[in-house]
Amino acid sequence: MNTHSKVAGSARPAEEAGSDRLERARAAFGETVHLSEPFSGRPPLWIEPADPALRKDSLAVAGWMAEKKAAIEDALLAFGGIVWRGFPVKGPDAFAGMMEPFTPFSKGYVAGITDRKAIKGKVMESTRTPETYTIFLHQEMSYLPHNPRLIAFYCHQPADEGGQTVIGDMRRLLEALPDTLRRKLDHGAVYGRHFRNEADRDDWRAEPRFGHPSWQYWFDTEDRELISAQLEERNITYQWLDDGSLKYWTRMEATVTHPATGELLSFNQLYAQTPHRLMVGDAFIEMMASAYGTHTQRPYFLSFGDGSPFTDDDFMAIHEEMELRKVEFEWQAGDVMLLDNKLTGHGRTPFKGPRDIQVMLFE
Ligand SMILES: [Fe+2]
Repeated sequence: MNTHSKVAGSARPAEEAGSDRLERARAAFGETVHLSEPFSGRPPLWIEPADPALRKDSLAVAGWMAEKKAAIEDALLAFGGIVWRGFPVKGPDAFAGMMEPFTPFSKGYVAGITDRKAIKGKVMESTRTPETYTIFLHQEMSYLPHNPRLIAFYCHQPADEGGQTVIGDMRRLLEALPDTLRRKLDHGAVYGRHFRNEADRDDWRAEPRFGHPSWQYWFDTEDRELISAQLEERNITYQWLDDGSLKYWTRMEATVTHPATGELLSFNQLYAQTPHRLMVGDAFIEMMASAYGTHTQRPYFLSFGDGSPFTDDDFMAIHEEMELRKVEFEWQAGDVMLLDNKLTGHGRTPFKGPRDIQVMLFE
């Protein structure tokens, strides 16, 4: 069955015996589904229905999901992620229904970095990041103290061109990075934002091309005390500056120990949050540099935890390794993907035409 497409990046030998984990999964899931491993030694496990009821009856699918919950959890650890193709998922209700056995992430997307809104219930848009940008591999909300254990994607409508949700194995990434970079990661990471004061009518940064929102817009309130309280509640450090603008930042570990497997994993967004020329293009980098110089507050700022800069060399060291690890497949309407958010990163390629990929986060 021609369900899979290319592996991006260069070939990389399977890091463990792929057939062992696939045999284990086949024994656990039984005869009602076909299992395969399209990218040997990498995520995801690929599941298609063998039983005709699982092709057309969403109640049968819900029952199967509940019955196979333990096998799904085991497969998430073994493969890092799962894709379901050929199941009857036709909208956010069906998506949420299929994911019923999992507990929604209680903290929601508060203080998240991308502009997104809820579609229905706990189902959200993926992102409003401009379609010409590449979103590099990252683990969801790894820049915040509370982040989801699992992330699910549902393809309601694939783009006409591009728009793949690229994924990549984060296992042993730390070991693959240069020692100097690993030592810098030991200091953790700082993620910061700056918001203009809307009341400052002379602020040149209000031009949309700078992507520099005001705190009044971002928090949808004029109430500084309310914003201060929300930031304090989330342990986010903040400063109201003399010009009435707002700056806040979090300092986080850059690694995490996986609670189920005990592996030490890279877990940060220094790479994915850097507005690098490979993401936004040279023209944008030059425009920002000439407008802001070195001293004016920028809308985003990043550093290692000791304040030292995340350099272009650091970015490229991670980028080269991520390019080797990434895999991508063409979305088809009805596809569902569930990832362990620590073991497997996700990103997005640029696209053309309407694209509707929906997201859910889980504890
Ligand atoms: Fe994401």
